[in-house]
Amino acid sequence: MISRIKGTTKLIGLLGDPVKHSLSPLMHNTAFKALNLDYVYMAFQVKEGFIKEGIEAVKTFNLEGFNLTMPHKQRVMEYLDEVSEEAALIGSVNTVKNIDGKLFGYNTDGKGFVKSLEEKNIEYKGKKIVLTGAGGAARAVAIQLAYDGAGEITIFNRTMDSAVEIVDIINKNIPSCKGKAFKLKEEELMKEIRDASIFVNCTSVGMEPNAGESIISSNKAFHKDLFVADIIYEPKKTKLLSMAEEAGCKYMNGLMMLIWQGAIAFNIWTGKNMPVDLIKKLLEKQGFYV
Ligand code: ATR
Repeated sequence: MISRIKGTTKLIGLLGDPVKHSLSPLMHNTAFKALNLDYVYMAFQVKEGFIKEGIEAVKTFNLEGFNLTMPHKQRVMEYLDEVSEEAALIGSVNTVKNIDGKLFGYNTDGKGFVKSLEEKNIEYKGKKIVLTGAGGAARAVAIQLAYDGAGEITIFNRTMDSAVEIVDIINKNIPSCKGKAFKLKEEELMKEIRDASIFVNCTSVGMEPNAGESIISSNKAFHKDLFVADIIYEPKKTKLLSMAEEAGCKYMNGLMMLIWQGAIAFNIWTGKNMPVDLIKKLLEKQGFYV
């Protein structure tokens, strides 16, 4: 690794806190090396409240681009010169490209999810999608799906207000998609799933410390044409996905969403396609599986 870093090497960073456990440095550096690209990816711990200084550093050191993670995805927006239409609707940015000192922001989280559906040939255009959760990840997934042509997005969340906020954005800005918000209740959720094409869990229920739990207690409403997705990738098969399997549904975990959000960012910075199969194998070696 060190021997390939030269005076010409372009730097890409991750700004967030915490960043120690991020898989992004491993993914991007492996891809740079495989494609013989003169870039290096480093993670920088930037504490909450210090994003302004982080951006100044990016400009001073003339980074080629960077990713953002918690807690900076929203705050960073005021320091950018331009933000993509989707990222503006989602209200957060996870990828920035620096072109001659001008910073261009994108959100590749929701796009990563959509790309992983497309890879599995799951039709979402014009379809009804039921989603649980209304946090940052749900927001990106729901708004990107609507933006890319979903027919109906129904969001269930424990806290009703944040679900309403997301569907309001969809209904005001994306007329081709109908957004509906519900407070999370099992009976209502089952009713909505019965005529949906895709059910996505975007809550943290199913991962530690809630591993072994599922956002829905029964798979009675799961029909054979329903595609079930969990954005959790550790554990690889959440309780929800086991329930989907039992019901005979096709399903996926969140690992391909993670890989594709990185691959789309990689393309924004380098103009090249990340070798996705290689990255998938690399993550398998680390104990993560699709
Ligand atoms: P992320 O950035 O990964 O989306 P987040 O913004 O903290 O994380 O969102 C977590 C989501 O999981 C929220 O929708 C949260 O519901 P609330 O908005 O009501 O807090 C949901 N969530 C977490 N634990 C939950 C639980 N035990 N039951 C139901 N929903 C839960």
